[in-house]
Amino acid sequence: MNLEIDQRRLNFEIEALAAFSDAGAPAVTRIVFTPTDLKARAWMKTRCEESGLVVREDAVGNTFARWIGVDKDAPVVGTGSHIDAIPNAGKYDGVVGVLGGLEAIRALRRCNFRPKHSIELLIFTSEEPTRFGIGCLGSRLLSGTLSPDIARTLKDKDGASVEDVRNAVGFKGNLDEVKLPAGYYKAFVELHIEQGSLLEREALPLGVVERIAAPASLRITVEGAGGHAGGVLMPDRRDALCAAAELILALEHAAKSSGAIDTVATVGMCDVFPSAVNSIPARVQLSVDVRDTDLSRRDGVLQALDTTCRATAAKRQVAIHSQLLNADAPAEAGAVVISALTSACEKHAFRYKRMTSRAYHDSLFISRIAPVAMLFIPCRNGYSHRPDEFASPDDIARGALVLAETLATLAT
Ligand code: GLV
Ligand code: MN
Ligand code: MN
Repeated sequence: MNLEIDQRRLNFEIEALAAFSDAGAPAVTRIVFTPTDLKARAWMKTRCEESGLVVREDAVGNTFARWIGVDKDAPVVGTGSHIDAIPNAGKYDGVVGVLGGLEAIRALRRCNFRPKHSIELLIFTSEEPTRFGIGCLGSRLLSGTLSPDIARTLKDKDGASVEDVRNAVGFKGNLDEVKLPAGYYKAFVELHIEQGSLLEREALPLGVVERIAAPASLRITVEGAGGHAGGVLMPDRRDALCAAAELILALEHAAKSSGAIDTVATVGMCDVFPSAVNSIPARVQLSVDVRDTDLSRRDGVLQALDTTCRATAAKRQVAIHSQLLNADAPAEAGAVVISALTSACEKHAFRYKRMTSRAYHDSLFISRIAPVAMLFIPCRNGYSHRPDEFASPDDIARGALVLAETLATLAT
């Protein structure tokens, strides 16, 4: 089998997909179920169909593009990732796994490979938590990790529910039917940029991901008392933002003092009400994101934050409400996929490193129902979730080639 990746076409497609954006280039913003996301989805479906794949969408908009295998009833070999992008993101996060996955399939078709198992590209809905507050919405539903009843009620910042929004954009099926039947997958493999700098630092072209760290997220609301910024004296204040500041610093301290470099915590959103220069903040909403490769250490940070919430509420006479949005277990890769990936690297004499993903991915949830592994390629300076995210065409093509070899092994 003489596999060849069409690097020029793959690169062209990555640039073309980046043009579907609500931010000016080079930034990409593509939030799930916005008109821009819908146009990008339509463009992707056309790319899949013109590549000879059979496309279907489920009720939450997960898109499956299948190359039917010789044994059409055998469990499927899956690959894919996401095309939604957080505000002010770059063009490679998720996209490399989707367009790289498509090119890997096309490369296999070009050299007349005949898969025994169907090979299916999957474009997951809303890997990013931007709109509905929870990441991996599509893969949580596919794997049965999130109940459809809870998913239905998740709301965006304008109060529109998943149920309303998906219906409005034409995904009208029943969410109860999204969960995949047992035994659907033989294996799943996701190609992705590293979103860290280990590969670049060690001058390695590939990473074989054996473990995905455990993410948790919370929404914290602090209710204090508003008032005139000149009139209300300092001893009389119950400033919600000052209380929130204590929580943010306590969270940072808890993560830094966990004893492990793998513990990370972020407050990425801080909404202040009423947000006026001369008005004391009456209410603040914070988003909290905590991750660790070790579940008990991650939960220790959540516990420390909870203790600070109680102490701060009492000390500052504010009400603090904390809502846990998700607290997921880590994922371990499946031996069959790791072996297929490492054999593919070795066949081409590509150097690689076995590694952990500190970012989460849809593979975290697919790992609950199938043997999964991921393949990382370097990204410049480890930058991701920012407009200057960059992966070189050579690295992307190498990733797609190893992915194609891996899919061939798994689908034989
Ligand atoms: C996924 O985008 C993550 O935040 O890890
Ligand atoms: Mn991302
Ligand atoms: Mn991603």
